[in-house]
Amino acid sequence: MTGIGSQQAVVSARGISHRLSGRKILDDISLSFGAGEVVGLIGPGGSGKTQLIRCLVTLTWPWKGGIELFGKTVSVLRRRHLKECRSRIGLQFQNFALFDYLDVWNNVAFPLLHARAMSREQADAPVRLALERVGLAGTESKFPSELSGGMRRRVAIARVMAATPAVAVFDDPVAGLDPVNSAKIMALLKDYAATSESLVVVATHDLERLLPITSRVVAIFGGKMLYDGATGALMTQAPEEVRRFVAAALSGEADPDLEAGGAA
Ligand SMILES: Nc1ncnc2c1ncn2[C@@H]1O[C@H](COP(=O)(O)OP(=O)(O)OP(=O)(O)O)[C@@H](O)[C@H]1O
Ligand SMILES: [Mg+2]
Repeated sequence: MTGIGSQQAVVSARGISHRLSGRKILDDISLSFGAGEVVGLIGPGGSGKTQLIRCLVTLTWPWKGGIELFGKTVSVLRRRHLKECRSRIGLQFQNFALFDYLDVWNNVAFPLLHARAMSREQADAPVRLALERVGLAGTESKFPSELSGGMRRRVAIARVMAATPAVAVFDDPVAGLDPVNSAKIMALLKDYAATSESLVVVATHDLERLLPITSRVVAIFGGKMLYDGATGALMTQAPEEVRRFVAAALSGEADPDLEAGGAA
């Protein structure tokens, strides 16, 4: 079940567990993602997807276990090397995390200017291309407060795409969007994943659009990884609980038996 992509691992977790406010949020998760994989991260609300992402990209240090980025154990890396590793990762935060005081161009350019040390001239073409890709050409000088929620989400996605990172993580890219915009964004991610050689990780509840674009699915339930394997084998190999969740999500029904929450 595990081991897909383990040949050229770019992100690995070795037995990570994490606690917040005294509660176990992640419980002994081990996985290894390789370049070129498109991974769907699924699970009920509050199951630990965002916290797992935060650990994988080293925004949070798990209280137990270790993370490796590009084959290096991050806990022993010097600050400069850790910064280099992080500069190769792009994360679209669930809450967008745009800078209110910067216009759209500067929000999208931020990783290029700061993590990649590009000049404004060098950053201009990739920024405009990414904005065009997400359908926001012409909004360069607008501020986040002048944009709708859906537009802000697309700016956050453009910020990841502009930097063409080795690891691109999209956390809940379509939450709260209407079906038309949701479809547009998932199509955009599909196109990005198909044309990129990076590792792409997408966490979303829109399983209907997620599953066709992924090669691999990781299911997190109550902080535990219940499935890590090929998307095609999900409905035959995953545990009953996961299959029930997927079936309910695909039929548009909530599963009343599902309990979200930590791994306490
Ligand atoms: N800062 C925090 N302090 C305490 N508990 C937290 C904190 N942030 C998250 N949690 C808890 O960690 C658990 C996992 O949360 P997480 O945000 O990873 O869920 P998720 O799977 O991303 O959910 P969603 O699908 O709604 O985005 C939840 O039980 C949540 O209440
Ligand atoms: Mg989340």
